[in-house]
Amino acid sequence: MYETLAVVGATGAVGRIVLQQLVDRDFPYKRLKLLASSRSVGQEVRVKDETVRIELLQPGAFKDVDLVIASTPDEVSAEFAPYAVEEGAVVVDESGYWRMDPKVPLIIPEVNPDAINDHQGIIASPNCSTTQMVVALAPLHHAATVKRVVVSTYQATSGAGLAGNVELEASTKAILNGQAPKSETFQHPIGFNLIPQIGSEKHEGYTSEEMKMVYETRKILGDDQIQVCPTAVRVPVTVGHSESILVETEKPLSVQQATELFRSAPGITVVDDLPNHGYPMPRDCDGKDDVFVGRIRRDISGNGNSIAFWCVSDNLRKGAATNAVQIAELLQKSVASAN
Ligand SMILES: NC(=O)c1ccc[n+]([C@@H]2O[C@H](COP(=O)([O-])OP(=O)(O)OC[C@H]3O[C@@H](n4cnc5c(N)ncnc54)[C@H](OP(=O)(O)O)[C@@H]3O)[C@@H](O)[C@H]2O)c1
Repeated sequence: MYETLAVVGATGAVGRIVLQQLVDRDFPYKRLKLLASSRSVGQEVRVKDETVRIELLQPGAFKDVDLVIASTPDEVSAEFAPYAVEEGAVVVDESGYWRMDPKVPLIIPEVNPDAINDHQGIIASPNCSTTQMVVALAPLHHAATVKRVVVSTYQATSGAGLAGNVELEASTKAILNGQAPKSETFQHPIGFNLIPQIGSEKHEGYTSEEMKMVYETRKILGDDQIQVCPTAVRVPVTVGHSESILVETEKPLSVQQATELFRSAPGITVVDDLPNHGYPMPRDCDGKDDVFVGRIRRDISGNGNSIAFWCVSDNLRKGAATNAVQIAELLQKSVASAN
């Protein structure tokens, strides 16, 4: 059992779900420390049967901490994670800052759990749209080797943190009231709209969010040959990212084989009953930990080596908090088996 667990960014969209997960999964610890910015210091939060006061994230905060689960902006993580490790803690980090660092394992526990053995104090959890896609691709990759993926995402506003959902609500109300909607978190008004830009331009007209899906997929599946062509779109949905995925494999897979692979993979629920309008949708996946897959079908434009499907997952859960808490559980198992 961990002596002292610190949750950094405990007041954020992801941090709040991390706290819920500690309760729901009966995560073991003796003492809990909650850290955030000066904006939140002193706020009181109920977790399990105790009330915990938010403390300031600052050097010295981790002297008595053995495990950190952190969900802060990249630049905050870049600064605090090294001193947290120096002060003796292991950091499971949700931000994008450490993911592609060769010294940092990037882990989805159902997919590449063994990578945890290489950690040097920081362990990264992937980008939310990458996580659900890779959970779905992994069983196909193991059976038939994924060569190429074309993916379009439909990403919820909570992917941009608490501010994203606040802006969706304000934007929707403004439009309904005939007022001009503001756009501060997003590049354009999000109410009644779709925005085909998440992040900034990064590479040959692809955005930073899209390039995360390229690089992180290769790192997690351990295969630099996988080609990914992503388009990331922000949609006016509060929780739950959806993805339309076309995957080309080295060996052909029938729809039935792909469906069986999805069904028997950990962390995947198949909902695939088109005649009865059965397929995953964000409203149904909100608050659930699994990755949901449906609309599994042959690529009628391809040469027999590609399958199309639809994939939805709660971005704050498997896309973030659930994956981080699962990494922490995995870490505890690996420490226990080493002793
Ligand atoms: N949202 C998602 O779906 C998702 C999925 C995967 C990964 N992530 C990543 O997870 C991280 C957190 O995202 P989020 O959606 O939870 O954002 P958020 O709702 O904006 O929350 C940010 C958290 O970071 C804290 N924070 C900000 N600046 C700080 C500082 N200078 N010192 C200490 N704490 C600070 C905030 O504390 P205050 O309340 O005190 O400001 C808050 O607790 C980001 O790196 C994001 O990319 C998010």
